[in-house]
Amino acid sequence: MYYIGVDLGTSAVKLLLMEESGKICNIVSKEYPLFFPHPGWSEQNPEDWFTQSVEGMKELTEGIDRSQVAGIGFGGQMHGLVTLDKDDNVIRPAILWNDGRSQKETEYLNNEIGKDKLSQYTANIAFAGFTAPKILWMKKNEPEKFAQIAKIMLPKDYLAYRLSGSFCTDVSDASGMLLLDVKNRCWSKEMMEICDVKEEQLPKLYESWEVVGTLKPEVAKELGFSADVKVVAGAGDNAAAAVGTGTVGDGQCNISLGTSGTIFISSKNFGVDENNALHSFCHADGSYHLMGCMLSAASCNKWWAEEILQTKDFAAEQAPIQKLGENNVFFLPYLMGERSPHNNPDARGVFFGMSMDTTRADMTQAVLEGVAFGLRDSLEVARKLGIKIDRTKICGGGAKSPLWKKIIANVMNLKVDVLEVEEGPSMGGAMLAAVGCGAYPDVETIGKKMAHVVDTVEPEEELVAKYEERYQKFKKLYPTLKPLF
Ligand code: XUL
Repeated sequence: MYYIGVDLGTSAVKLLLMEESGKICNIVSKEYPLFFPHPGWSEQNPEDWFTQSVEGMKELTEGIDRSQVAGIGFGGQMHGLVTLDKDDNVIRPAILWNDGRSQKETEYLNNEIGKDKLSQYTANIAFAGFTAPKILWMKKNEPEKFAQIAKIMLPKDYLAYRLSGSFCTDVSDASGMLLLDVKNRCWSKEMMEICDVKEEQLPKLYESWEVVGTLKPEVAKELGFSADVKVVAGAGDNAAAAVGTGTVGDGQCNISLGTSGTIFISSKNFGVDENNALHSFCHADGSYHLMGCMLSAASCNKWWAEEILQTKDFAAEQAPIQKLGENNVFFLPYLMGERSPHNNPDARGVFFGMSMDTTRADMTQAVLEGVAFGLRDSLEVARKLGIKIDRTKICGGGAKSPLWKKIIANVMNLKVDVLEVEEGPSMGGAMLAAVGCGAYPDVETIGKKMAHVVDTVEPEEELVAKYEERYQKFKKLYPTLKPLF
């Protein structure tokens, strides 16, 4: 049998076709536009997600016996607000995870409702990218549209709804809405009241591997699949990536270098850090995780190469970089503001420290290093909690660069385990589908079985020491510049 993983990303949907054994048969990627209607805003059209996912599934399964497709699972960009009216029309473009418009609502939640209460209700505080502040933004700024809302869902849940008709979400993705009581894996009555939302407007909650329904007959017909194909709830992209990289069970770490950059620490037990600097969310394996999220990671490198240097040849830009740990140029990677740990939508990107002998390669290096330093900021929060991490898995587009992996290993002083399959969320989605269809007993089992480490990038003592010095300087830049943002 075949399982399809659909990773609904920010720049494209990535689809992966997997056999029961874990063998990958095909991977397809389909892009869609991303709109920035105002500085700091970020939107997409849910219809584009659906159309491209269906086209992608057709392409993905060309040449195979389509009746052998058994299940579909998802990994999806988190936190996005998708609203439907009573006739299932999309009310407005989706407001995405990296959209900073809801700063006032975020401040209202954190300061007037209060961080203590939010943390008690949801295990988290408000960040502008989270869904609840966006709901409040819509209520205040688009009251007629707010009044039309019949259904609120997250991006990947819109796909599940269009494919199966099931109004559902999973607990890992729902954790990022600030409406979920993460500890008890149920909606928070208090948060629903604060956001003026009723439970019938929210999707039914599932664990990530649970079956939410089967394909609608008309969709099955269009795809050439059997109408018995099971649709599985799936997970937020970071939890799905963690499944895909075998970051399951207790105390495992995964770094994702995608549009966003995240550090994900799995935990058997529920836990919250004192200042809520890290997110405390449900994991897709039935347990929990802590996570730090940078809003711009591989996207910084993409911006630098494509927009500024006007090239798509990332490897050629990185080739002349020789001297690690000795760069005098620093880059603050806050092109879309920053989430973890600064929680500041107004933060912006900065180059610092150039001189007449600074080269193009130094600046490219500074971009890669700036992202690694930003991830280290979140790792430091975890270390202060007493969590001992000495190795991590890695996935996402940025993980394809050997140089970036080496920089990460040395800036963070972590052993970086490189996987045979670096697909992360799409692989995780397919694995969740396989569990939902009964091919594997649980997520931990399949995670451990399918993620094969093929190489480890070891930190080097001398480089770690050099980067430690650089990091101490990097750490001072944001607080110094904060009043100017
Ligand atoms: C996580 C987050 C991002 C998006 C990217 O909190 O906002 O990683 O999920 O798709």
